[in-house]
Amino acid sequence: MKLFYTFFQYIKFVFSARNTRGNGVHSPFVYDFFEKVIYEKNPYYCFHEIEKLRNMLKNNNKMLSINDFGTGEQRAAKISKIARRSLKSPRYAQMLFRAALFCKSENLWELGTSLGITTAYLAKTDSKNRVTSMEGSAEIAKIAANIFKSLNINNINIIVGNIDQTIDAALYATDKIDFAFIDANHRYSAVIQYFNKIIPKLHENSVVVIDDLYWSKPMTKAWNEIKNHSTVVSTIDLFQTGFVFFNKKLPKKHYKAVK
Ligand SMILES: C[S@@+](CC[C@H](N)C(=O)[O-])C[C@H]1O[C@@H](n2cnc3c(N)ncnc32)[C@H](O)[C@@H]1O
Repeated sequence: MKLFYTFFQYIKFVFSARNTRGNGVHSPFVYDFFEKVIYEKNPYYCFHEIEKLRNMLKNNNKMLSINDFGTGEQRAAKISKIARRSLKSPRYAQMLFRAALFCKSENLWELGTSLGITTAYLAKTDSKNRVTSMEGSAEIAKIAANIFKSLNINNINIIVGNIDQTIDAALYATDKIDFAFIDANHRYSAVIQYFNKIIPKLHENSVVVIDDLYWSKPMTKAWNEIKNHSTVVSTIDLFQTGFVFFNKKLPKKHYKAVK
C-alpha cells in the first residue's frame, strides 16, 4: 500500500519539479546550495574509506536482535539487510556531508544512527565538529561504534535508547543545533514532536533535514506541516529528502527538484 502511495507521489513530484534547476532560483544562497550541495559530484577524501566499510556491512550476515520501534517488539535482522535497506545511499549521505560543510555546521544532530554510515559522513566534515546521534537499538549502536573506531572518528556521541525518552536530556545538554537530520521514527506524531522539540535550539543559519517525505501519507502530512511552520522560511524538496531553512533573508519559497 505504502509502495503505491510513494510511486504515485513520485510521478506527481517529477511533473511538478522537473524545471526547477536554474529556473526561478534568484537567491545566491539557494543557487549555490543547488550547485555546490545538491548537484555537486566531485568526491571528497573521506568518501572512499566510508564506502569501503558500507560494503563490508553489506556482506556481513551476522544476525542482530533489534528493537522494532513500530511494533515495540524485538526481532532478528541481518546486518547485511540493514545495510542494504535502512541507510542513506552514498549519493544522499555525501550530499548531507556537503550540506553540513556548506552551512559551516559545527553542532550536528542525527536522529536514527542505524549502522553509523551517514553519521560518519557528518563527523568527517571536521574533526572539531560535534555530532550527536541517537539510536534505539543497542546492538545496532554497537556496530556503529565499531565503524567510528575503524574510521578513527572521535567526535560522535551516540545516545542509545528510545529517542522519545532520551531527546529532552540531550537537548538540555546542547546549546545550539546547526544541522539536524531527522531519520528515526517515521510516524507523523514522532517527526512533528522531534521537530518542535529541537526548534528552540535552532538559529537562523541552522538547517534541518527530514527524510522519507513521501514514504507514507502521514510522513507527507508531517512534511507539509513543517513547510508551513511559522519559523520556516525556505525548503528544498528532493522527494527522498527535504532541507528546511530558517534565515529570514532567504526568499519565502518552497523549491522542488529532482536530484
Ligand atoms: C532509517 S534508519 C537511520 C539511517 C541512518 N540515518 C543513515 O542514514 O544511515 C532509522 C533508525 O532509527 C532507529 N529508530 C527508530 N525509531 C527510534 C526511536 N523511537 N528511538 C531511537 N531510535 C529509533 C531505528 O532503530 C533505525 O536504526
